[in-house]
Amino acid sequence: MNKKILASQSPGKYHESVMVDEVIKSLHVEKGLRYIDCTAGNGGHMEAILKMGGQVLGIDLDPAMLAISQKRLEKFKGFKLVQGNFVNIDRIARNNNWFPVNGILFDLGVSNIHLKDLERGFSFENPEALLDMRLNPDTQNVKGSDLLNILREDQLEDLFSISLDPGAAKWITGRVLHSRMEKPIETVGDMLEICEGLRTGKPGMSVATLPFLALRIAVNSELINLKEVLPKAFDLLKKDGRLVIISFHSGEDKIVKDFYKEKAGIGEGRMITFAPIRAGITEVDLNRRARSAKMRIVQKL
Ligand SMILES: C[S@@+](CC[C@H](N)C(=O)[O-])C[C@H]1O[C@@H](n2cnc3c(N)ncnc32)[C@H](O)[C@@H]1O
Repeated sequence: MNKKILASQSPGKYHESVMVDEVIKSLHVEKGLRYIDCTAGNGGHMEAILKMGGQVLGIDLDPAMLAISQKRLEKFKGFKLVQGNFVNIDRIARNNNWFPVNGILFDLGVSNIHLKDLERGFSFENPEALLDMRLNPDTQNVKGSDLLNILREDQLEDLFSISLDPGAAKWITGRVLHSRMEKPIETVGDMLEICEGLRTGKPGMSVATLPFLALRIAVNSELINLKEVLPKAFDLLKKDGRLVIISFHSGEDKIVKDFYKEKAGIGEGRMITFAPIRAGITEVDLNRRARSAKMRIVQKL
């Protein structure tokens, strides 16, 4: 039912792209130059690049998102959309004859469209949904519920440590082990029960938010993919080309920061941002997701 509602609405209503002006400025978008958007989503950043006359190759893992961006961008020329994992950016760029490029963008994580979808297990608003969380069910075999049912205790603690402090990660691991002894964990509702009583030290935030985030990151290998793609993306840049990355939690931001420092340290890159760029108050007021966005830029020398 939810999908029907989504399909009948304009995509922009459901995912507001973050820091669009800042992205355009940071990428130095110019007419006729080439860019890659590794997280096309519903095409908001791509649209802004195209409006400035840039040409852009958009990649997204989720075929459902590509259908939305394709529709949004159909009036433009100068873009291609490719379904794939950005971890394969080298192969994707080569196959599409789209390298070297002037700038590459990552707007990490999932879209608001995912978070609002009541059927795919990203949202904790529908307890009956299967705890799935795969961005591409055609190529990924392991669902969120599978991880909770099969991982060892130490592996579960590592998984939850992505977003929780060690005490909370241990506590919730205990709850998972207890719950799965009674019956396999299957649904969003099962996970919500597991989260009940968790102390995150974040008043005002649902106790389910951080455990769900950690599970989603693990299901989609988000941190592993990010680590692996950064050197490949950097290699695809022209001299003076820029890598612009928007991250949403400290695990991602640390990987980005460390990579930029390494490139600057060996004289291959110049850090344009020492402190991350944050969204302005007006944007944060309009778009809650922008609150935690941090943008970092490095330029290839
Ligand atoms: C925050 S959204 C991007 C929104 C987009 N910038 C816009 O303006 O509409 C992140 C997108 O990245 C995609 N994604 C996440 N991990 C990916 C990966 N490893 N490879 C390709 N796409 C990925 C998600 O499916 C999602 O559509």
